[in-house]
Amino acid sequence: MQTPSPQTWSQRFETALHPTVALFNASIGFDIQLIEYDLTGSQAHAKMLVKTGIISPDEGEQIVTGLDTIRQEYRRGEFTPGVEAEDVHFAVERRLTELIGAVGKKLHTARSRNDQVGTDVRLYLRAQIEAIQAQLRQYQATLLAIAETHVETLIPGYTHLQRAQPLSLAHHLLAYFDMAQRDWERLADVQKRVNISPLGCGALAGTTFPIDRQYSAELLGFAKVYGNSLDGVSDRDFAIEFACAASLIMVHLSRLSEEMILWASEEFSFVTLNDSCSTGSSIMPQKKNPDVPELVRGKTGRVFGHLQGLLVMMKGLPLAYNKDLQEDKEAIFDTVQTVSGCLGAMTILLAEGVNFQVPRLAQAVNEDYANATDVADYLATKGIPFREAYNLVGKVVKTSLAAGKLLRELTLEEWQAIHPAFEDDIYAAIAPQQVVSARNSYGGTGFDQVRQAIQRAHLALGDA
Ligand code: ARG
Repeated sequence: MQTPSPQTWSQRFETALHPTVALFNASIGFDIQLIEYDLTGSQAHAKMLVKTGIISPDEGEQIVTGLDTIRQEYRRGEFTPGVEAEDVHFAVERRLTELIGAVGKKLHTARSRNDQVGTDVRLYLRAQIEAIQAQLRQYQATLLAIAETHVETLIPGYTHLQRAQPLSLAHHLLAYFDMAQRDWERLADVQKRVNISPLGCGALAGTTFPIDRQYSAELLGFAKVYGNSLDGVSDRDFAIEFACAASLIMVHLSRLSEEMILWASEEFSFVTLNDSCSTGSSIMPQKKNPDVPELVRGKTGRVFGHLQGLLVMMKGLPLAYNKDLQEDKEAIFDTVQTVSGCLGAMTILLAEGVNFQVPRLAQAVNEDYANATDVADYLATKGIPFREAYNLVGKVVKTSLAAGKLLRELTLEEWQAIHPAFEDDIYAAIAPQQVVSARNSYGGTGFDQVRQAIQRAHLALGDA
């Protein structure tokens, strides 16, 4: 597209914008991403103008067809407006007028860029939320598939990053499944506030034309329209809510990343990483680095930053539209791109990048004192008050540690010297497999519970 000579806004202005100011003011460099939504929004607006008799059917037809032409041009890479257009809305209107002549100038009747940009951003975000929800489903399905193969694989469970009690590996993975389920539901809830039409709010006060806001909203698939025109053009709550939901997705992905990074370390060696999902060092030939989870963990900060940026941008804004609001776009776009990229990468990492080292995990759960609670529980079921049993077992752990013995290595005589209630069945009671399977309370790590959780997870995914 040719660069037109600098223009003035209207007859009110005598000189054009200073080129540096024009560049500073322009959003076309990033809001071109909204173009498909801008075209769709404008087509709905034009149809509404026809329906209400504000423009003629023939004019409406020309406008809708002209906008289609721009869509084709854009998709073919032929529509590349520069800074002279300022933003995507002006770029489209200007091109439309080039294509269909003076009729193009009627499109902006009964509309402002303020309600227009609000419409575009909502349409964009609605589509992106659906896409992110679909990615969450993929991620959940991948977690579930791995969980199903590891119901009876044990992994040390930690609190304070100290060995606490052993877990079913499936139970551990399903914790992330449940977090993702909340993320999915949270997005569905945010979507309710995204899917409201500001179109027809005008600059701030509505319009003198007999428009039909319900009709354009319906054409665009909005569930309802804003009831207050000032609120409609000023509201960015939906963007902040989205950034918040996105931040929580990142919190969850980042925690999983941190665990992967730990698990892949030589000290843990709970997983190995496949070559397709890890990188080497430029100097240390032995290295295999967990770049994917590290990057996910690292990118989390910028999503939080966008949430903070949006909140601060909004807090002091008087009603209604202020140019500050142009700043919402890069935050929203980058949040979408980052969350989507991280979900995609984590799903691939889980699906083909990580191998759980089952023998090493079995060794890990057999070499610690994470069955100490079960010794106390054993005594408690024999009538010894739990706190008393707890203190007794603390002493046993201390003396065993000093003697370099694991609990299962104590002889029956040693057990009975501690308390006469101990019998031969103590060994079965503290075997890791039993320790895990016995935690059969609802939502616990017992194998039966985990199998039920897997059924619930399938239901959540809509599998039979
Ligand atoms: N590019 C602007 C934005 O992103 C469009 C709305 C401009 N409205 C205005 N009154 N200057 O917010």
